[in-house]
This record gives sequence, C-alpha cells and structure tokens, in this order.
Amino acid sequence: MADIPAYRPRVTSARPEMTRALSARTGLDDEVLRDLVHAFYGKVRKDPVLGPIFAARISDWEPHLGRMVDFWSSVALMTGRYHGAPVPAHVGLPVTRADFDRWLTLFRETARETCTPDGAEHVITRAERIARSLHMAVEDAQRVCPHAVPELR
Ligand code: HEM
Repeated sequence: MADIPAYRPRVTSARPEMTRALSARTGLDDEVLRDLVHAFYGKVRKDPVLGPIFAARISDWEPHLGRMVDFWSSVALMTGRYHGAPVPAHVGLPVTRADFDRWLTLFRETARETCTPDGAEHVITRAERIARSLHMAVEDAQRVCPHAVPELR
C-alpha cells in the first residue's frame, strides 16, 4: 500500500488576528458590546415610538439580546459569531425613515456612553450603513404591498 504522505495542509484563519487588531484599535470587546446592546435596548424598550414595535414582537428578551451581542461581535470585531438574516426580520415591519432615524439617534447616544470614542465611531459607522440598507429593503417591500416580503434568493 502506498505510504500516506506526512504533509498535512495547515488551514489557519486570519480571523482571530483581525479580531485582536480591531479590539486593540477600538477598545471594543465582548464586555463592552454586551453593555452597549443591553443599554441600547433598555432605551429602545422605553421609547414611546420604537418600544411598542418591539414589544409586539419580542416577549422573551434574553435570546434577542444574546443574538444582538453576537451580531455586533460579528459586525464590529469580525468574529463570525452571528449566523442570522437581518433583512427578513425587518421587511414587513410597520416602520418609516423616521423610525430608523430614531433608532440611530438612540444607538449613537448609547455607543458614546458605553464605548471609547474610537469604538463608538466604529460601531456607529456600521450601524448607519446597515440601517440604510435595511430601510431600503423595507421601503422596497412596502412599495409592492404594505406587508409583502420580497423573495430572497
Ligand atoms: C426602525 C428600526 C428598527 C426596528 C423597529 C427593528 C425591529 C426589530 C425587531 C422587532 C426584531 C425581532 C424580529 C423577530 O425576532 O421577529 C429585530 C431583529 C433584529 N434587528 Fe432590528 N430593528 C430596527 C433596526 C435595526 C438596525 C438598524 C439593525 C442593525 C444595525 C438591526 C439589527 C437587527 C438584527 C441583527 C436582528 C436579528 C435578526 C435575526 O437574526 O433574527 N435592526 N429588529
């Protein structure tokens, strides 16, 4: 029988190194992101406009908060911890541009309270970009029919 070569390809990921570098540059880590997410949704839940939209859809907040910490860990630190699909979760929501503006106002405020200045700018830039694309997806769906969900391929 032929010898099996001793060579084994080494599959390494650049991700842990990128996460370390991003964390060092921004001061963001699991604990800060957890504080950000919990403080932010604390404000969202008390908000007279956004609060009822969430309350109608989320009864058990712990899984949502955990998912959002994973989401921000993936977005801000590239850890790959989030595996969900944000677009289908938002198309069909009864929201307008004003609601996204309010969401971003609360997010910017909370980020500046819980993160370093560099960390706050890092997450705010990404939140603004994602809010813009979610808003476009929502508007797109509303143009067809107020409750239509676009076919996602
Ligand atoms: C008007 C603004 C927004 C409202 C009212 C809103 C509302 C919601 C609601 C109700 C859910 C739960 C859906 C469900 O579990 O059935 C959700 C999930 C989520 N939202 Fe938002 N959202 C808003 C903006 C944003 C923005 C700007 C981001 C990102 C920067 C975001 C990221 C997410 C993510 C990652 C999830 C979890 C999706 C999943 O994996 O299931 N949301 N949102």
